[in-house]
Amino acid sequence: MRAAKLSYRQILLPLCCLILSIAAWCCLASCASSPPGTSNLALIHQSKPQPIPVEVDELRNVEKGKQLFLMHCSPCHQSEGQGKVGLAPSIRNKDFLSLASDEFIKNTVIKGRAMTTMIPRPDLKGEQLDAIVSYLRSAYKGKVIVDNSKKYKGDAKQGGADFKTYCASCHGDKGQGYFAGVPGTGIGLASFLDVASDDYIYQTMKRGRIGTAMRTMIGPKGVANLTDQQAKNIIVYLRTLNKK
Ligand code: HEC
Ligand code: HEC
Repeated sequence: MRAAKLSYRQILLPLCCLILSIAAWCCLASCASSPPGTSNLALIHQSKPQPIPVEVDELRNVEKGKQLFLMHCSPCHQSEGQGKVGLAPSIRNKDFLSLASDEFIKNTVIKGRAMTTMIPRPDLKGEQLDAIVSYLRSAYKGKVIVDNSKKYKGDAKQGGADFKTYCASCHGDKGQGYFAGVPGTGIGLASFLDVASDDYIYQTMKRGRIGTAMRTMIGPKGVANLTDQQAKNIIVYLRTLNKK
């Protein structure tokens, strides 16, 4: 009798453990297999409402800017701002947006680029222009890396010679741009040089512009393999073009 009682307890205890662990396992499994989102529902109800990370105003501004861009700019700069050779440059890409400040973009729109088809649009200044800039920037959120206060020194004569060798075929022999029948923009025109800082020009030569014929020009990776000083000479040369 004694032996029988003992073995009954010996069986009961492990059996209870087994039933408990099966119950625990079932509970866990049902939580894990419920559709995503629902298992945290109770938690969400308990915690305080979290701020929505996206600014609704900013989204509205981007959408408004897109509509304005489609109306006023896309006939030349194309529907996504990707540009078209001989018509208008690409202005909604990482390379351009990391070099062009808001001021650069706004000045270009308000003043236009004399001697090109980029006509001045002073009527767009204010909220409309802000919205257009927001739309352009929505393609790339990184910082503007150009230091507009930098002034580069160099030899204009050397720069002129290198410009003819490495740049003229695409930008025109005096940097006239599209009207000379070339694929590059008018980087020798006063209307460009007045808004573009030395470092803007330098960084464009250094990085190129993705999706366009403008490739990296400086260093061993560059198509022209220019030294830093050669690049600076070219900038100094460009600055002499409109001085009489
Ligand atoms: C009729 C054609 C045309 C229209 C419309 C037009 N652009 Fe342009 N845009 C150009 C051309 C051409 C250039 C380049 C001129 C040059 O420097 O050779 C240019 C240059 C620019 C640049 C400077 C890009 C760079 O590489 O430096 C910006 C920014 C710009 N346009 C913005 C705009 C915006 C914003 C609108 C609409 C409000 C607009 N453009 C409408 C033809 C146009
Ligand atoms: C193979 C053709 C090609 C060569 C060579 C070339 N470029 Fe360009 N460059 C372009 C094109 C095309 C653009 C405009 C890109 C676009 O459509 O957005 C451009 C744009 C630029 C810009 C920006 C202009 C703006 O309006 O913002 C600068 C600055 C520039 N080039 C400087 C140079 C210099 C300096 C050289 C010579 C060392 C040079 N490029 C050689 C094709 C060329």
